[in-house]
Amino acid sequence: MTPSHIGVVGSGTMGGAIAHLMALSGYDVRLSDVSQPALEQAVRRMRSWMEMNVSKGKMTQEDADGTLDRISITTELNHLADCSFVVEAVFEDLQVKEQIFSQLDQILPQAAIIATNTSSMSITLLAEYTKRPGKVVGMHFFNPPQVMKLVEVVRGYKTDNDTVAKTMDLARNLGKEPIEVKKDTPGFIVNRILIPQLLEAVRLVEEGVATPEDVDKAIRLGLNSPMGPFELQDYTGVDIGLNVVDHFYEEFRNDRWAAPLSLRALVRAGRLGRKTGAGWYDYPSDSK
Ligand code: 3HC
Repeated sequence: MTPSHIGVVGSGTMGGAIAHLMALSGYDVRLSDVSQPALEQAVRRMRSWMEMNVSKGKMTQEDADGTLDRISITTELNHLADCSFVVEAVFEDLQVKEQIFSQLDQILPQAAIIATNTSSMSITLLAEYTKRPGKVVGMHFFNPPQVMKLVEVVRGYKTDNDTVAKTMDLARNLGKEPIEVKKDTPGFIVNRILIPQLLEAVRLVEEGVATPEDVDKAIRLGLNSPMGPFELQDYTGVDIGLNVVDHFYEEFRNDRWAAPLSLRALVRAGRLGRKTGAGWYDYPSDSK
């Protein structure tokens, strides 16, 4: 499938980067957000990354300009009306997603696919906000999407085979390795495995076994992982991690998924990581 235009809803870290990846791969992209400053910030991030690559000789100025020309930004969701494929990548708030899914359902052509980059929410539930549940699918990218090779293509209860096949094709056209997640389960595959590791790392620090820095060092050097669990939480956003954990707790109803108090305290204190803010390394831990 070659979608005529691809829409991306949400211009935060993931949405902006997914739009960028699509434009780098030659697609015309409409990037939408309710906030004009957020849209402009997303374009600035794309421009500065491409300027760096042009200066390193990894990309031509012509390719960088062409990529930006393929992206149009808008605060009106209606401007996505001619898209045959849309990826929703707004923050994990069910009410916001409900509104977006039902509006997209009204404006998009009947055959258009609505994909969601949700990290943990039920594809089956999101699909029910539309009258086209067969055309709703999970398309879960990993941060940074321009670099990370995996895309989880998640089947909701009613997602049809054609939608899964077209989403897998699109992921391949973006240079990714898609895998099909055959059942709609919280966290899909990667987060289902990753989150217990992150929780265990936090518990080790709470028990005074080691500092966040040393836990990270252990995982980097002992498992050859590019980042330790605390660096990774700071990189993807501590609040996003807590959101996923709380969602798991809701869904599984099992204490195994209860968020450690220090994780919640960090979010309440506004220490959200993402390179800009303080994160785990600044947590006032007894073990320091
Ligand atoms: N955007 C685009 N490209 C980027 C980038 C970004 N934000 N960050 C790094 N890159 C590129 C660089 O340009 C560089 O490309 P080059 O080799 O062509 O020059 C390459 O990635 C390597 O970058 P650096 O040399 O600057 O730094 P590192 O070698 O330390 O790599 C990293 C950075 C790729 C982020 C690496 O540390 C890594 O793989 N970390 C783990 C990331 C990870 O686990 N992500 C998954 C998080 S979980 C998730 O997303 C799920 C969600 O549901 C929460």
